[in-house]
Amino acid sequence: MSEPVNDWATDYDIFDPQYVADPFSIWDELRTACPMAHTDRWGGSWLPTRYDDVYAIAHDVVKFPSGNGISVVPLVDAPVPGAPAPTPLLAAGIPPISADAPLHTWTRRLVLPTMSPARVAEYEVYTRALCRRLVDDVLARGEGDAAAEYAQQIPVRVIGHILGVPEEMSDTFTGWVRDILEFANDEERRRRGIMGMVTYVQGAIAERQAEPKDDFITELLQSEHDGEPTSVDVVMGMCALLLIAGIDTTWSSIGSAMWHLATHPDDLRRLVNEPELMPTAIEEFLRAYAPVTMARRLVVDTEYNGCPIKAGERVLMNFPGANRDPEVFPDADKVILDREHNRHLAFGSGIHRCAGSNLARMELRVAVEEWITRIPEFSVTDPALVTWAGGQVRGPRSVPVRVP
Ligand code: HEM
Repeated sequence: MSEPVNDWATDYDIFDPQYVADPFSIWDELRTACPMAHTDRWGGSWLPTRYDDVYAIAHDVVKFPSGNGISVVPLVDAPVPGAPAPTPLLAAGIPPISADAPLHTWTRRLVLPTMSPARVAEYEVYTRALCRRLVDDVLARGEGDAAAEYAQQIPVRVIGHILGVPEEMSDTFTGWVRDILEFANDEERRRRGIMGMVTYVQGAIAERQAEPKDDFITELLQSEHDGEPTSVDVVMGMCALLLIAGIDTTWSSIGSAMWHLATHPDDLRRLVNEPELMPTAIEEFLRAYAPVTMARRLVVDTEYNGCPIKAGERVLMNFPGANRDPEVFPDADKVILDREHNRHLAFGSGIHRCAGSNLARMELRVAVEEWITRIPEFSVTDPALVTWAGGQVRGPRSVPVRVP
């Protein structure tokens, strides 16, 4: 457990329980007093809180590359002083997110067709049937956990369906992804999650090398770049990324939307009565409760807006904080279901902008639609039982609700 934070401008910690519970008031204060906060914790990093800064840094891939580290805490593979350098578990990283050009460019191109609107429309059939099954269970019991028993169950199965991972593995995957992202500040759990995921993907690749299947892992293994087959290391990294990026993020977004509706009866009623608001409501949930904070680790000393950023330090890509900037979003701390102008940064911006955004949006929309169509009234049983996880991905982990 880290020391509590006394000064958010010079010693912030995004794993601090106060930051996890309410980062919004911390960003509001920093935005006027110190828009680029600094901390020496976790290897040293800077936290921009203004939209313009986060946007500018995301677009400056020369000064702020992704190839030198994108996690908020140093990776478990970071060398221990005096010990031999460890063999990286993922030799090619997890492209495209962890890569700069040229690796970034061609690996992103390999992912995009699988996440196109047309392909996502195909996955919608599976997603809707899955959500209906989950809602049936909640209705049968008259109560349920909208985060753990609903939101958490959806993305892991959808991405498993796309990659060709059996549904029985869902809980195991969820555990690994939580170890990697939610418990990133616990080195042992993080290593366990990465090991679990890597070992599984290695096995899945070997199976498909022996006998190709009709799934995305096979498609990647059969792909080529510059006339050469894509290397197994790259395929490994890409599969690990899709599992990590596709699970916790989307589950957190669905969970936040469910929590919002369970605690704001006026918004729930409005969305039930005016389903045509769904597209703007989904964007507003993404903006207001953006789950993902990424990082860039600097290769050389640089300066940004007068801040001296040292080589090896990180800049946190505070997409969630940018989305609450009142300079860009009037009434930024209010959820407005029909907000008209909403150029939010929940999916990032620039060359690394989320490659799975079509899929994520579909999952969020279908999850909310299926629930509120069949359960138009629901509320949190006891606010004290609601829990949130934070760090690199923020979202609710438990939202117990009663359904009439
Ligand atoms: C609501 C859910 C999601 C959110 C909020 C989200 C957010 C993000 C963000 C902020 C980035 C940019 C990272 C950076 O700049 O370093 C990103 C990249 C990425 N996301 Fe998502 N994501 C979501 C769901 C998904 C899903 C479902 C998938 C696919 C299975 C996915 C795949 C990716 C990939 C492959 C990248 C890397 C793109 C690149 O580097 O070119 N994401 N995501």
